[in-house]
Amino acid sequence: MQRRSFVATTGAAVAGSMLVNPMNAFARRAKRKVVMVGTGSRGIGFWGKRVVNSYGDDLEFVGLHDVNKGRMDLAKNEFAPNAKMFDNFDDMLDKTKPDLVIVTTMDSTHHEFVIKSLNKGYNVLTEKPMTTDDVKCQAILDAERKSGKKVIVGFNYRYSTLATAIKQQLADNVAGKLTSVDFHWYLNVYHGADYFRRWHRLTENSGSLWVHKASHHFDLLNWWIDSDPIEVVAFGELEHYGKNHTAFKHTNCRPCPHKSNCKFYWDMTKSKNLMSLYADNEKYDGYLRDGCVWKDDINIYDKMSAQIKYANGVVVNYSLTTYSPYEGWRVAFNGMEGRLDSWEDIPWQQGKDEVDQANRHELEMTQGKKEEAEEFDQMMVMKNFADYQQIKVPRVRAGHGGGDSRLQDRIFKDPNAPDPLRHAAGSRDGAMAVLIGVAARKSIEQGNKKIKIADLTDLKPSVKRL
Ligand SMILES: NC(=O)c1ccc[n+]([C@@H]2O[C@H](COP(=O)([O-])OP(=O)(O)OC[C@H]3O[C@@H](n4cnc5c(N)ncnc54)[C@H](O)[C@@H]3O)[C@@H](O)[C@H]2O)c1
Repeated sequence: MQRRSFVATTGAAVAGSMLVNPMNAFARRAKRKVVMVGTGSRGIGFWGKRVVNSYGDDLEFVGLHDVNKGRMDLAKNEFAPNAKMFDNFDDMLDKTKPDLVIVTTMDSTHHEFVIKSLNKGYNVLTEKPMTTDDVKCQAILDAERKSGKKVIVGFNYRYSTLATAIKQQLADNVAGKLTSVDFHWYLNVYHGADYFRRWHRLTENSGSLWVHKASHHFDLLNWWIDSDPIEVVAFGELEHYGKNHTAFKHTNCRPCPHKSNCKFYWDMTKSKNLMSLYADNEKYDGYLRDGCVWKDDINIYDKMSAQIKYANGVVVNYSLTTYSPYEGWRVAFNGMEGRLDSWEDIPWQQGKDEVDQANRHELEMTQGKKEEAEEFDQMMVMKNFADYQQIKVPRVRAGHGGGDSRLQDRIFKDPNAPDPLRHAAGSRDGAMAVLIGVAARKSIEQGNKKIKIADLTDLKPSVKRL
């Protein structure tokens, strides 16, 4: 057994830093002007409050836009006292002339704001997923090319300490030439269920979890494997949530008469923050944050499985489960000369740092928490015909494994910092992640047909990521 640090930088990885850096879109100047569209949970907490607290000396929010006036007011109070609130997005751009537009609306609307910003000559940062279908994806790519401006995609998972350590090991070629990858993600009955309560429950809003959630995972795969996907075959069902449950259902949890016998009853009134963000603003748009997970209109899959073939020959087996008793994931990379295994939060592999399943996700999303390495995440590297090596990576229980703060530092503090592992993500990365999810959806809709990524947009998959 051997403990190793993971800071070594390979020659190949350094070469990567010479490539175009999408983060240059927001290189440092005098106090920069930022506007935000979509002042919900992620907008206010992560791109609003956290950014102002960490980089407030260098930038200021000058404009806010949201279809929900109440949430826009809240955002102004929480982090942008001097920002002007706009009923109209175009007006906001024309009147504020920002250095950066931040898009944190519902997934299916991202393209609208990304394209308008580019067309008017502004750099734009969008939350993942970049968009929800292939047509919108092509429209974003076209607009970016025409504008000469840049799209940044907020892929925070890449920056987590564990994801970065895995990337470093693969860049160091620990398993030899990669041939296949197993990647399985388990959402628990608290966090997984939450997608079925919210706007995410409709494919027309989120692109389904194939896009909304799995695009995070597909981006990790694309980045780790360092190649582009070429083909996808997928299976998916809705078997657990929604119309499958016939015993009882209601509109949402707060007024529900079945509270006492529903295991998925969720008491949103316990959270002052959620009550002021959503319940207090229902009067503007009728949006119920604590929707019933048994609603008949739910049309996203709750069981998902795909095989993805990459241009460099790697084949991936991927699955996403949404009603697991525990939240965690496993990945394994098989190569010609060995194998790398890693995992997160598998209870019996966890050691003494027990995970509270009900609060697991909240802890993960916590932005205020000081980054402290508690215990270690692990990787096992085993060369063929040799013993295994255990590699320990300091575990950070804050903001997506520490990824959130590193992503923001790169964008707001030092966009030109060396990027040996190419963490910075632009529209091509955003597109490739989304397109795997879109292909998976199409595959299921077409009787599990093999879908070619090259048929979805004009992006040509490359053996080595561009
Ligand atoms: N990277 C991550 O880890 C991460 C985590 C959470 C959310 N997100 C992403 O952030 C985005 C926002 O998610 P959220 O959890 O904050 O959701 P939310 O529902 O809390 O906020 C979305 C906001 O967008 C507004 N909105 C919706 N449609 C609009 C439109 N057409 N014009 C203007 N405003 C509109 C809503 O009123 C709401 O205030 C999503 O794209 C989501 O995928 C990413």
